[in-house]
Amino acid sequence: MAEILAAGAALKPALALLRAGDVVAIPTETVYGLAGDATNGIGVARIFEAKGRPRFNPLIAHVADMAMAERIGLFDPLSEELALAFWPGPLTLVLPQRRGNGIHPLVTAGLDTIALRMPRGFGRDLIANLGHPIAAPSANSSGRISATTAQAVAADLGDRIRLVVDGGATPVGLESTIVKVEGTGLRLLRPGGIAAEEIEAATGMQILRGGVAGIEAPGMLASHYAPDAAVRLNARTVAEGEALLAFGDRRAEGWQHAAAFRNLSASGDLREAASNLFAHMQDLDRVGARAIAVEPIPFDGLGEAINDRLSRAAAPRDNPAPAA
Ligand code: TXA
Ligand code: MG
Repeated sequence: MAEILAAGAALKPALALLRAGDVVAIPTETVYGLAGDATNGIGVARIFEAKGRPRFNPLIAHVADMAMAERIGLFDPLSEELALAFWPGPLTLVLPQRRGNGIHPLVTAGLDTIALRMPRGFGRDLIANLGHPIAAPSANSSGRISATTAQAVAADLGDRIRLVVDGGATPVGLESTIVKVEGTGLRLLRPGGIAAEEIEAATGMQILRGGVAGIEAPGMLASHYAPDAAVRLNARTVAEGEALLAFGDRRAEGWQHAAAFRNLSASGDLREAASNLFAHMQDLDRVGARAIAVEPIPFDGLGEAINDRLSRAAAPRDNPAPAA
């Protein structure tokens, strides 16, 4: 069972867990978050594992200050203005990522944009002391509502995590508002703790709602990450010109001839595999192989999310041309 520690006494143990690649539930002003070091693939994989998320939805990276935010994302003037007006606070900005920002690709599900937020209170202190951003989705198991007290977190996730930091009931109680600058406009991706009207008043702009780029549902996000190469799942053989994405210690036939080779986890550890998935796919895609053959990956634990992500990458890319 997770230990519940008052925020005043929890900084050191929380830091120790994050540094060891583990997760910790923390209070923020919106809802409790399940935090992991955003630069540590194992820590990020553990977040998905503890939540039992069937998919790798992109997570919000939480920062301690503007300098940290600017090392991660590329701010346009409007996003900068919003950050200055509302941070720290319940506003999340989606920005293009800065190259080489150290964020593990599992945080963003392989997207080239990133959601950034500067929280108030314990979370911010924790991030400043860690010196790295933390990835933190709401601290609830997949499909349940967000937790706003340490007790609710412990009741839901207590047997899967080591520590819940108790900061009392979260003042906002609702997730952050997510916005994204699009050209000269501003789009609401998720309504939340800051009313759209407040943002409109601060910027003098009208917020765009809905539409094609509206809330980017996981299914839509998936299509953002399609490698150039075709993807062939459950491969037991490697064909001419294919790269191989392996798993475990039993190789597909003909693996010696693969155009390129990466193993998600030689020891068959699904947590390690999850943390390697996006980077390995990108590496294999970079060699320009015709297709990426993927060895069978079990469906238990994080395997479900890994298989979900891979099957999206393998799905047909284009609508078939209408029959003549
Ligand atoms: O208040 C909050 O935002 C809480 C606290 C813990 O900070 N966190 C939270 O995280 O609600 P989560 O993972 O439950 O929701 C994150 C949302 C998802 O809807 C996801 O699709 C969206 O952020 N998101 C993340 N990265 C994105 C991106 N690059 N583009 C568009 N949407 C993104
Ligand atoms: Mg959530």
